[in-house]
Amino acid sequence: MSDPTSVQGIFNYMAPMEHRPQYFLYTPPEGTVQHRPENVKHTMTVRDGRGAGLSLDGEGFEIVPHVSRVKDFYDNDEVREVYYPEVGELLKKHTGATRVHTFDHNQRHGDRDRYDSAGVSQPVRFAHNDYTLKSGPQRVRDLVPDDAETLLQHRFAVINVWRAIGPPIESTPLGVLDASSLQPEDFVDTDLVYEDRTGEIYSVTHRPEHRWFYFPKMHIEEAMLLKCYDSATDGRARFTAHSAFDDPDTSEGAPPRESIEARSLVFWAPEA
Ligand code: OGA
Ligand code: FE
Repeated sequence: MSDPTSVQGIFNYMAPMEHRPQYFLYTPPEGTVQHRPENVKHTMTVRDGRGAGLSLDGEGFEIVPHVSRVKDFYDNDEVREVYYPEVGELLKKHTGATRVHTFDHNQRHGDRDRYDSAGVSQPVRFAHNDYTLKSGPQRVRDLVPDDAETLLQHRFAVINVWRAIGPPIESTPLGVLDASSLQPEDFVDTDLVYEDRTGEIYSVTHRPEHRWFYFPKMHIEEAMLLKCYDSATDGRARFTAHSAFDDPDTSEGAPPRESIEARSLVFWAPEA
């Protein structure tokens, strides 16, 4: 009998490789050798995270009720003007942080005809974490250069606030890996090579013990908080890998997934 509180999902993991993996996010000069990782698919149990007692510091993610005043989540100006401050308030309230700097967002749409228009992206079916030991602090230096050295003396985190912006999500939900089921060796430094800079993310290699979760039918008045970096080394969750996957329970004719994620630097520095 199938377990009503879990589904089987197929996830793309990175196949182990010799070279440092890299993705070019522009067309590199002719003759450039690209060390693009190969994916390997693994079928994993994905548990329903609702009521599972998940927390940002325990497993690295959780879901909270949150009502936004944003009318059109595809309007980038409105997102910056209305949503970013809401995200800041939510994170302060939820984490006790003293300062939050929300710095970017992506809308995603599961329908092929909708992504790339107006900067809308598609779901990402690849297990990864957006920041690494190196690129977490680098983001602080890039975004708040004047205060970075002071801020970096205290605990800080990068937290992604992820939500539905259309109908309740049925197709291609976001799976998230319980940080406590990951070992440091599962994370592989991976370069994102842009024309003007190189970012670093973690690709993830498979381990049978990985515990995946998702929140079925996320709706617009909920927010998933997802920790992508934490400077604390006291045993809290520091990195939370995630990937879109195809939920086999998706009903026929379910609408394509529509979501937004907004990323913030979250500081616990004492106030000046
Ligand atoms: C993210 C992310 C992928 C998706 O929010 O960082 O990788 O499919 N999202 O929503
Ligand atoms: Fe991501």
